[in-house]
Amino acid sequence: MTLISKFGNHTDQTVTIKGWAYNVRSSGSIAFLQIRDGSGFTQAVVSKSEVSDSVWQTAVETTIESSIEVTGKVTKHPKKEGVFELQVSELNIVQKADEYPIGKKEHGPDFLLENRHLWLRAPKQWAIQRVRNVIIRAIYDWMHDNDFVKIDSPIFTPSACEGTTDLFEVDYFEEKKAYLTQSGQLYLEAAVPAHGRCFDFGPVFRAEKSKTRRHLTEFWMMDAEAAFVEHEENMKIQEDLLCYIVSRVLKECQEELKIMERDVSLLENIKAPFYRLTHSEAVKKLRELGSKIGDMDDLGAEDETLLTKEFDKPVFIEKYPAAVKAFYMKRDSENPDLALCSDLLAPEGYGEISGGSQREDDYETLLNRIREHRLPEEAFQWYLDLRKYGSVPHSGFGFGLERLVAWICGLHHVRETIPFPRTIHRIEP
Ligand code: 4AD
Ligand code: MG
Repeated sequence: MTLISKFGNHTDQTVTIKGWAYNVRSSGSIAFLQIRDGSGFTQAVVSKSEVSDSVWQTAVETTIESSIEVTGKVTKHPKKEGVFELQVSELNIVQKADEYPIGKKEHGPDFLLENRHLWLRAPKQWAIQRVRNVIIRAIYDWMHDNDFVKIDSPIFTPSACEGTTDLFEVDYFEEKKAYLTQSGQLYLEAAVPAHGRCFDFGPVFRAEKSKTRRHLTEFWMMDAEAAFVEHEENMKIQEDLLCYIVSRVLKECQEELKIMERDVSLLENIKAPFYRLTHSEAVKKLRELGSKIGDMDDLGAEDETLLTKEFDKPVFIEKYPAAVKAFYMKRDSENPDLALCSDLLAPEGYGEISGGSQREDDYETLLNRIREHRLPEEAFQWYLDLRKYGSVPHSGFGFGLERLVAWICGLHHVRETIPFPRTIHRIEP
């Protein structure tokens, strides 16, 4: 068996492929089967005069999405460079598909999401998952090459990491409240004195009531954490990592980007240094652009869209008012009302793809923050311990995988970036 993606090594040879007929048409004495085998797409040509009656009959009977085995000669497309076709000699149906519900006409998003188990096969959806896969691999490779150790953080947790308003409570552990994790960050901080630099990559959960194009209730996050790294260097790490991710997608996903009709020149432009604005500079700029944002407000989704439409490269917004950010962030020594944090916003209106900060490393200060945020002290005792036994300056960040995929693929909504999206109104299929 040969893969379609390897056809270039088999020109003028006879090969067998196994896959699915995603489109079929025949006229008179010639039939065209569009075939997908997971590795790529090709057109198989069946000429009535070249094949047996039974092969011709099978070709004419093949329905859309039937699984098939095809043998034929690989030929170069007469007009398109680098494109190959298969001149069929043998054809078998593995399973003849029922009438396929996803047709060529436009379907609404609800219909497609209800049929996500089938929609995943569409060329664009295939391309998105392939890009997602390359992004995941690029992250692991960069982390490994830069001495970060993968530490798997737990999914059941006794405490909140990112505020208490959007926690999923789990009623199972006797006499203890438990939640699904919002981010593995706090656990990575515990691994820092053991490993120096570490990262995790896994599903996280947010019971957010937001119904925006950027929010999922279950999504994948890559958190990274490093000892002796301060706010500035923390941004540099994110910048290097993101440039590497984009360069890998450009190198490995040209076919996918073409299927998605992504403007590749916008991605080719993603090089360090990224833009930098302080929160107060961003607020000023947003007001010029017509936003009603207040001096001490967090940026809303609409502000992020407005702002990042102005930029052709990612932009760090740093030093937000501490009051709108998480309890663990270290304050700016020059202005204690500000946190030593950054949100990394993707251009073209995409907005936040990563959030990070330097962490508070002093025991007393952190304890006071936990109290100010009215968090249950007991659940954070282990986290406070880390400030008693060899505390060091340290920083970290978390990338949301689906936001990254949405931006790199140029998709309007994050729900297409994950195989089976979970949102406030959807847990099926
Ligand atoms: O900004 P967030 O909430 O930061 C944290 O959780 C930190 N503990 C990370 C860290 O420092 N280790 O989330 C990080 C990223 C966001 O920038 C965004 O890309 C993504 O996670 N994200 C979401 N993606 C999809 N749906 C949601 N509801 C998301 N909420 C956050
Ligand atoms: Mg954030």
